[in-house]
Amino acid sequence: MSNRINIQQVAVIGAGTMGLGIAQVAAQAGHEVRLYDAHPAQTARALDDFASRLADRVARGKLSEQDAAALRARLTPAASLNELADADLVIEAIVERLDIKQQLFAELEGICGERCILASNTSSISITAIGAALARPERLAGLHFFNPAPVMKLVEVISGLATAAAVRDTLLALARDWGKVAVHASSTPGFIVNRIARPYYGETLRALQEGVAEPQVLDALMRSAGFPMGACELTDLIGQDVNFAVSASVYRAFFDEPRYRPSLVQQALVEAGRLGRKSGRGFYRYQGGQPEVPA
Ligand code: NAI
Repeated sequence: MSNRINIQQVAVIGAGTMGLGIAQVAAQAGHEVRLYDAHPAQTARALDDFASRLADRVARGKLSEQDAAALRARLTPAASLNELADADLVIEAIVERLDIKQQLFAELEGICGERCILASNTSSISITAIGAALARPERLAGLHFFNPAPVMKLVEVISGLATAAAVRDTLLALARDWGKVAVHASSTPGFIVNRIARPYYGETLRALQEGVAEPQVLDALMRSAGFPMGACELTDLIGQDVNFAVSASVYRAFFDEPRYRPSLVQQALVEAGRLGRKSGRGFYRYQGGQPEVPA
């Protein structure tokens, strides 16, 4: 595509569930990737996870030792944002808060080169609103992966009001090069998937609150109805805090539309620190990442 901007070096900010997955996708596609997190211990943990995922694939004969070593070498930690100055594309996957994302991108504007594309993996925050804090919002777009990023095929490329066509086209082509199914959406609350999926979570959480059935019953029923996962196990995978933040953001953005009202049951899980798989307990308890018993 003539419009396309050349992307070699990729940086990912936020080494949590999504950041590591996205960094892995980019490294597998052959890019040099730098991974940065505000908490260096989190970056170290993510790189350890990455190394054990690769070792597991080597052990199962899915990856050669040589390819695993090359992948490990392509994904390296960054100790500060300043180390991301050479990136052609920075993908942000930090906490789902407008003010914190705006602050981060404003800082990146002073660090990254003129041609660098800035992308947010936000699930629900307006790209137009994030861009409002930038001197050059035309180089900002949404690049929204789904969890787990190395497995899920869909990527939404989101244009805010100011996003340049060349930035949109570059990200669509890049996601396709990375083996993804890329779709374009304009920046409206929840974009496409998170808007349409919101009532699925919401109705399940309402049923729980009304004592209709236990999480394992609701999940088993939805699986038997053809959904890959029930809403309780899925929100445990996503992270109860992340899913709650997305619900709250979509609810507010649609002017308190009752269909999207966040759940008190989910709020209680967040308050208790029962965030799902990543904290070892959510609707279910997890041992080594696997569901054990209902929590
Ligand atoms: P997470 O909680 O697993 O990881 C977030 C990471 O960002 C943490 O390691 C934290 O230390 C770091 N962080 C927070 N503030 C930072 C800052 N100012 N600078 C640098 N690092 C910072 O969260 P997760 O689930 O990876 O979500 C990240 C983003 O991706 C959110 O915007 C979320 O809405 C979006 N998302 C999440 C999905 C999911 O299923 N969990 C799916 C698709 C998008």
